[in-house]
Amino acid sequence: MAKQTWKPGNMLYPLPAVMVSVTDGMGNDNIITVAWAGTVCTNPPMVSISVRPSRYSYEMLRRTGEFVINLTTEKLAFATDYCGVRSGRDVDKFAEMKLTKEKAQFVGAPMIGESPVSIECRVKEVFELGSHHMFLADVLAVHADEAYMDKDNKFQLNNARPLVYSHGEYLSIGKSLGTFGYSVKKKNRKPRKPAKK
Ligand SMILES: Cc1cc2nc3c(=O)[nH]c(=O)nc-3n(C[C@H](O)[C@H](O)[C@H](O)COP(=O)(O)O)c2cc1C
Repeated sequence: MAKQTWKPGNMLYPLPAVMVSVTDGMGNDNIITVAWAGTVCTNPPMVSISVRPSRYSYEMLRRTGEFVINLTTEKLAFATDYCGVRSGRDVDKFAEMKLTKEKAQFVGAPMIGESPVSIECRVKEVFELGSHHMFLADVLAVHADEAYMDKDNKFQLNNARPLVYSHGEYLSIGKSLGTFGYSVKKKNRKPRKPAKK
């Protein structure tokens, strides 16, 4: 296989593109679409988002040290893109996209009601890396939409049709190829026949 070698760049795809909600604590709320987001630690649960200082949301993040990560879905694709190409300096994205503000439990920033999962976060440290500053944050709470609970009360996130962002394109998730650990799982054995007496 012949691979072209390119200069260093960002090519870690696919990714989720999330809608991050923020507030200035003085009545102004905003949403910024972020693809440079990630889980960084299981215990304690921690995430990161990387944001350019030029964004309107940046000052809010710095001031309050709080944000909510709202997962996106196929239904939210248009709003996800819009919140990533329009600035809160010029438009009220909640109003324009008819998104519902829901009060969060621990942070001042509102959650987005239409999102299947909202993750409340408090910034622990900011790393001024270069073009983007990385906000390393503790997860304070996860809110999951009951509409995606199955009969066994198990959350079926994939039924919400999560949005995938890959190399400049929004995609839906495809068919399931297996579940966690399936590669090493023992094949279903036939039940043993009872021993003859
Ligand atoms: C799919 C997508 C992903 C994006 N990811 C990031 C990101 O990770 N960090 C960032 O600073 N901006 C990112 N942006 C750009 C901001 O969302 C965009 O500049 C937005 O208008 C900023 O809003 P604000 O000025 O209201 O804060 C992304 C945009 C899109 C469409």
